[in-house]
Amino acid sequence: MTKPEHKNDFEALYNLRDPGPYYRGLEPADYRMPGVVSGLIRACGERLRAARRQDARPLRLLDIGCGFGAVGTLLRYDIGMRDLFTYHGGHSQADRGPSAWEADKGFLAGKKRDVPPMEIAGLDIADRALDYAKSIGAIDQVFAENLVANDPSPALIDWLATTDIVMECGALAILYEPGFRRMIEASVPNRPWFLLCPRPDADRTPVVETLNRLGYQVEELLAPTDYRKCLSAREEAEVISVAAKLGREGADAYSGGYLQVPILLFRHQDDCDASVSDLLQGWRDEGANS
Ligand SMILES: C[S@@+](CC[C@H](N)C(=O)[O-])C[C@H]1O[C@@H](n2cnc3c(N)ncnc32)[C@H](O)[C@@H]1O
Repeated sequence: MTKPEHKNDFEALYNLRDPGPYYRGLEPADYRMPGVVSGLIRACGERLRAARRQDARPLRLLDIGCGFGAVGTLLRYDIGMRDLFTYHGGHSQADRGPSAWEADKGFLAGKKRDVPPMEIAGLDIADRALDYAKSIGAIDQVFAENLVANDPSPALIDWLATTDIVMECGALAILYEPGFRRMIEASVPNRPWFLLCPRPDADRTPVVETLNRLGYQVEELLAPTDYRKCLSAREEAEVISVAAKLGREGADAYSGGYLQVPILLFRHQDDCDASVSDLLQGWRDEGANS
């Protein structure tokens, strides 16, 4: 296909066996969020775990809309988004199919980070992307679910009962759909923390209202930061116009050629003993290429 010029153009690239077209499509946009979020979890994961519970079980994460597992890849391997862009820019434009898996495992071999153990589950509608993410070791557990149309599966509800952090970056409109809200409701007995990075052109109100109703408070861990560039003048005009209708204007929505996205932490009101500044000690914005 021709180069993506709009977020919707990626729909044809999400469920391939080969992540190459996805990363090559994002490279001109300098998509940064997996680098930012993985840097935060790497720096603060052990403090987040200790703030949530006393036992020794590793931090347990659920990555919503994880796709090819960019966040898990950067958590577990000593590379950044720019390394992924360079690597995937270096092979053919064609979909490499399943042969991508062995080649990419070879690329990652020897790059393992020395990080505390974590259990990472990935949820996505794109089952091939999930299988790829598991095959390269980016995630441990796969939930191939449609969070727009369907209620969470019993297996997902089980995972929510023990997960510490439910996170997303780039999950787009899934967040704002009833399926996602039902998943939040299903997680209530365990009260996981939610780490969300909502785009300025997506209406976050329904999910914030759901979390507030369930007793969650929101804190901004990172003020709006560079998410990615727009891929065309058409996309830029649309983002700015939709964001303005949602009350996000100027540098809160779009600045220096980049869409602006905050990192928001939602914790239950009875579970906010640790201050955010304590939790975030030592975290630096590792950017697109740590
Ligand atoms: C912009 S991509 C982000 C992927 C990944 N988080 C990253 O940062 O590279 C959005 C993801 O949402 C997934 N998605 C779209 N609709 C979905 C749905 N209804 N249920 C679950 N996942 C969905 C897509 O398959 C895609 O992998």
